[in-house]
Amino acid sequence: MADLGDLREEYGHDSLSEDSVHPNPVEQFRIWFDHAVDKKIPEPNAMSLATVDETGQPWQRTVLLKAYDDKGFVFYTNYESRKGKQLAHNPKTCVLFPWIQLERQVIVTGSVERVSTSESLKYFASRPFGSRLGAWVSQQSSVVSSRSILLAKFEEMKNKFKDGDVPLPSFWGGYRIVPDTIEFWLGGKSRIHDRIFYRKASDGSWTIERLAP
Ligand SMILES: Cc1cc2nc3c(=O)[nH]c(=O)nc-3n(C[C@H](O)[C@H](O)[C@H](O)COP(=O)(O)O)c2cc1C
Repeated sequence: MADLGDLREEYGHDSLSEDSVHPNPVEQFRIWFDHAVDKKIPEPNAMSLATVDETGQPWQRTVLLKAYDDKGFVFYTNYESRKGKQLAHNPKTCVLFPWIQLERQVIVTGSVERVSTSESLKYFASRPFGSRLGAWVSQQSSVVSSRSILLAKFEEMKNKFKDGDVPLPSFWGGYRIVPDTIEFWLGGKSRIHDRIFYRKASDGSWTIERLAP
């Protein structure tokens, strides 16, 4: 059996400096994201999304980043899911990109807003037929008594929308995470890791600080 205490990697193949990072963290994210894509790590756009429920209990799940720019980071989901209800109550969130193979992680904090219906529609229309049907089939996060019920619902929806024209469900769409802070973490030798922390000021500019690892 593996001794977890002995599982240890020595990091430190690259370095990250507050003087050389891009002044705009979204552009710095672009540099790192493109690198992650180039390195062919599995699902580089998978991010762990944290929300908090009404009792203060945090929850997490993986979602896929589908767009990003200076306005924020966009993912798509069911607005009536557990995360959707939690975000309606408390729009503050945190996402983490776990690019472990690259000895990197990026953490974004901020608040969500819904993307426009036209933006959701555009993305929804680009999804394969089965994925569009899937959005109609699943009342995400509700209890289902069996898998066969979902499969039957899938067949029902397949039949209903057999002409291939699947409308955007009113309960499905995108959220944009408008960032307040973005941290870039890079593994360093002897646990002297680099942490470059951007914080958005009230005038919209970004301050850059180094955090202790
Ligand atoms: C790799 C991966 C990607 C996923 N992408 C999404 C996604 O983009 N949107 C989504 O709603 N769920 C996605 N899921 C499923 C979620 O992790 C989660 O099970 C679902 O959204 C329900 O979460 P909730 O009950 O907390 O709302 C993904 C799961 C994995 C493992």
